[in-house]
Amino acid sequence: MFSKLTRPQSLAVLCRGVHASLSSATSVATKKTVQGPLSSDYIFEREAKYGAHNYHPLPVALEKGKGVYVWDVEGRKYFDFLSAYSAVNQGHCHPKIVSALKAQSEKLTLTSRAFYNDVLGEYEEFVTKMFNYNKVLPMNTGVEAGETACKLARKWAYVVKGIPKYKAKIIFAAGNFWGRTMSAISSSTDPSSYDGFGPFMPGFEVIPYNDLPALEVFGIILLCLLGKYSLQSGSSYHVLKMRHFLWHGVNVFPFIADYDAWKVCLRLRDNGLLAKPTHGDIIRLAPPLVIKEDEIRECIEIIHKTILSF
Ligand SMILES: Cc1ncc(COP(=O)(O)O)c(C=O)c1O
Repeated sequence: MFSKLTRPQSLAVLCRGVHASLSSATSVATKKTVQGPLSSDYIFEREAKYGAHNYHPLPVALEKGKGVYVWDVEGRKYFDFLSAYSAVNQGHCHPKIVSALKAQSEKLTLTSRAFYNDVLGEYEEFVTKMFNYNKVLPMNTGVEAGETACKLARKWAYVVKGIPKYKAKIIFAAGNFWGRTMSAISSSTDPSSYDGFGPFMPGFEVIPYNDLPALEVFGIILLCLLGKYSLQSGSSYHVLKMRHFLWHGVNVFPFIADYDAWKVCLRLRDNGLLAKPTHGDIIRLAPPLVIKEDEIRECIEIIHKTILSF
């Protein structure tokens, strides 16, 4: 796979890109400061000028959020059907979370791992007891967790299983996605993730998804969807099932002749619901898991109406 993926990489191209953005940034920086509320168009343009083009956001500029709702800078209200990739499953600006955050940052903002503090162990004890694990290593991002899983799998292979040093192989299923670090893209079969970034991580092998006979050596990465444990109590089983279903997403495209997820998401936005198009023909629907039954019903109406409008 990797010989196929490897492409000569021109540093000169990257440098030209850097110089181009620096000079355009300088010319924009001389313009006068914008007064009053920012428009969506201004926000899109500013990000395009000063930010690296490593992402392609839906054109909506958000300013505030509460529970399952977000508002853009022009005051339009939307159901948030991505919930920061489920990082805000508790809903935007949850008062308990905001107040804990504020209280801690006012008392002791940050410590390094060079010292102990009085709360890390409390969290470690809580989370390991809740999920019945011996130990936990907290990470800031999902991809760091994947990186750590790779390191653990390799060390376990050498120390416990007696694999000759640096000969371990980690097997990934084709079609995986676990982030965009060098390791993550080295296990990817999606050219939009890996193309242009080689050479890739050695010792990674990709086999077809769901092909047990193809497995000869094991490296297991488990991604735990902690979000589903943040459901509020008092909800009916039916609503829990609906939330779970929504978290996993719905493939609406068998019903639409023109399979363009981007266009559908633009129209969902116009109808008051923000979702994430991915890979051209898939839409990820992940509302905060605090969404209530009547809100789910309203959202289903929006999705239904949008799909039928194509
Ligand atoms: C399925 C999946 N796994 C892992 C990641 C990486 O998570 P993070 O962005 O927190 O590193 C993402 C991010 O989009 C993801 O969608």
